[in-house]
Amino acid sequence: MLNKYDDMSRRPISELIVDGFRDSAILEATDILLHGGLVGLPTETVYGLAADADNLSALGRIFDVKSRPVSHPLILHIDSDSRLEEWSRDISPAARELARLLWPGPLTMLLYRSSRVSNLVTGGRDTVAIRVPNHSVALNLLSHLESAVAAPSANRFGKVSPTTAQHVLTDLGTDVDLILDGGPCSIGVESTIVDMTMPIPQLLRPGGISVTRIEEILDLKLDSPTDGSRAPGMLESHYSPNCTIELVESTESAIIRAQQLKSDSIRVHILDFSHDLNKYAKHMYEFLRDADRQGCEVVVAVMPSDSGIGRAIRDRLTKASTK
Ligand code: TXA
Ligand code: MG
Repeated sequence: MLNKYDDMSRRPISELIVDGFRDSAILEATDILLHGGLVGLPTETVYGLAADADNLSALGRIFDVKSRPVSHPLILHIDSDSRLEEWSRDISPAARELARLLWPGPLTMLLYRSSRVSNLVTGGRDTVAIRVPNHSVALNLLSHLESAVAAPSANRFGKVSPTTAQHVLTDLGTDVDLILDGGPCSIGVESTIVDMTMPIPQLLRPGGISVTRIEEILDLKLDSPTDGSRAPGMLESHYSPNCTIELVESTESAIIRAQQLKSDSIRVHILDFSHDLNKYAKHMYEFLRDADRQGCEVVVAVMPSDSGIGRAIRDRLTKASTK
């Protein structure tokens, strides 16, 4: 397997971002992936750092660039559920139904892996995480490949996920070979992850698709994960900006707390889109990035309600507040 992008001189940093809606950009990204390079990929949730799922050295580079432990498995992205059999086996009727109704979309399913899937993707597990992203640039790129792409969020490990091409550039610079600009992510938090290999499917990560919607389709209540180690990285501190995050349950409490901090000369911002959950999800990560850039010391974040995508927002804010 060729890995020309390991040693070749790369694009200068000022030319790394290209318009992902242009065919020429998709062709270049395809070529880079086929030669073992890494591409910043827009999805509806967050930007991914994509590598050819069949290329071991490219997969290895993902872990190097992110400084991510190899025990943290990756999500495979495919362009259609018609390709599920290439990467998984023993797919349950329930999993097929979720795929049929929710893909393309922000749902990742854990399925039994096929023999094609590398141990680098699964962390040596018998399961593989797969999704079909709902973004025309990602789908266009995937349709040009014989393979799938493995793509974690395109940020350094433990940090805030990127929701624009510029965030990817700021975080990873020339560690990525090309960044496809697909505009700001429409959802803004990562996909919901459900383990479909369990007798009762388990919710491993709340995300862009609400738990209620999945439970409606399956006509059952999702279980909690029985074994924390099945989904490493989900229980610890994660999604962390440099500033401290304090969580409060109402706008009034946020105002009072911010005044206290200001009177101690602490630079504070209030994060509160609690009146509009979709807007909260879409802007939360960017808000935290801006707060860091502006030298903010404490973000007082108003927790949204637990319904719909609010559950994912609460999950990310809680993890971001855990140092
Ligand atoms: O929305 C998303 O899912 C984004 C976009 C780029 O698609 N991707 C994303 O990937 O959030 P990442 O790597 O940041 O998070 C993937 C999570 C990790 O916490 C990982 O532990 C879990 O999925 N995961 C992947 N495969 C798994 C497996 N076989 N068993 C348990 N957990 C798995
Ligand atoms: Mg991530």
